[in-house]
Amino acid sequence: MTQLFKSCYYVSDDKVPGLKSYGELNPPSRLLLGPGPSNVDPRVLKAMVSPLVGHLDPYFFEIMNDTVELLRYAFKTNNKLTIPVSGTGSAGMEAALYNTVEPGDEVVVGMNGYFGERMNEIASRCGGKVIGIKEDWGKVVRKEAVEDALEKSKAKVVAIVHAETSTGALQPLHEISKLAHEYGALLLVDAVTSLTGCELDVDALQIDVCYSGSQKCLNCPPGLSPITFNEKAMNKVLARNTKVPSWYLDMSLIDKYWSEGRAYHHTAPISMIYALREALRIVYEEGLEKRWARHKKNSQAFIEGIEAMGLKMHAEKEHRLPSLNSVAIPTGVTDTNVRSTLLNDFNIEVGGGLGALRGKIWRVGLMGINSNEKTVIIALEALERALRKEGYKVTAGEGVRAAADFFSK
Ligand SMILES: Cc1ncc(COP(=O)(O)O)c(C=O)c1O
Repeated sequence: MTQLFKSCYYVSDDKVPGLKSYGELNPPSRLLLGPGPSNVDPRVLKAMVSPLVGHLDPYFFEIMNDTVELLRYAFKTNNKLTIPVSGTGSAGMEAALYNTVEPGDEVVVGMNGYFGERMNEIASRCGGKVIGIKEDWGKVVRKEAVEDALEKSKAKVVAIVHAETSTGALQPLHEISKLAHEYGALLLVDAVTSLTGCELDVDALQIDVCYSGSQKCLNCPPGLSPITFNEKAMNKVLARNTKVPSWYLDMSLIDKYWSEGRAYHHTAPISMIYALREALRIVYEEGLEKRWARHKKNSQAFIEGIEAMGLKMHAEKEHRLPSLNSVAIPTGVTDTNVRSTLLNDFNIEVGGGLGALRGKIWRVGLMGINSNEKTVIIALEALERALRKEGYKVTAGEGVRAAADFFSK
């Protein structure tokens, strides 16, 4: 049988003489503490090398059903349309906006960071008239500003980033959700860096559309964007006057593949869906609330260590994102030198600032499996050494000691 199976494949033993030799793929094993991707859970990697089946195979349908169920758990929603969009987080962002915004619609967009700005860009590409709420990068969008924008417009959509990965700010959603609905608008939320890494309850917050990414707190490779649309949002999609400008991201078409009819839309990325299912199984086994608390605790320990070294966090104390910790770069220290030392001497990746925050902050992700005591200690120790190399004055072991004290409380 095995022989027969083997003979189904074409295997060449001959190599064309004189070929250039391309080395085997051998990437370094990094500790990925940047803004994402985070490290992939070994269980997820194992799931990814499972044999491929077809995207219309009955076995795969079972995997799809499990994935939907587990995604509903992760988002805390009963929404029927809860699926992974094929594509990275930006595909989720486009799916959310392309489906709900029609040419001429007014859209209120929170613009307090790089990804809020991206929402603005995409909403205008949909033909939306954006009413941007600008805030300093690192601050959150104020509910008063949202109310003002809604009062002065006929906006049908409010789009906001829950976890602004570019600044480390965590956006409170409760009041904004109330306002959006009072004014008859849908609420779209970017949860790319928050899903399973901090408190998020889609149904309780009455979020109409919420999307995320596979490569952050879920510890999968990049490539999928979990998304959920409630009935109200889907009704809006179905009642559009114009076609969704993207055929690939038209949720009414994608839904036909993910619901009972299983009508082919595009070839699902099977191995990535295996990966996501496994990642979600891990979340489910741990329990969401426990997982949120773990992220919060490890982030607090990290912050204790940072502050003990005389450094400052960039985001305001009341609105800090546990999965992405933004540290202000002290004067006299060169951003790229520190990040190079971390990468070359310690195999640790941390992120630099984006846009207006370039050279001003480091972004340290403690996401999913990387949110743990050992990683916090290693990161602080490595950062201390990198800073000392730059001439920054810090008492040896101060950061690690503060974090260890916090953990032993
Ligand atoms: C908040 C936020 N939204 C959207 C995206 C875009 O996701 P991707 O880079 O996976 O397309 C990111 C990526 O880091 C993000 O952090």
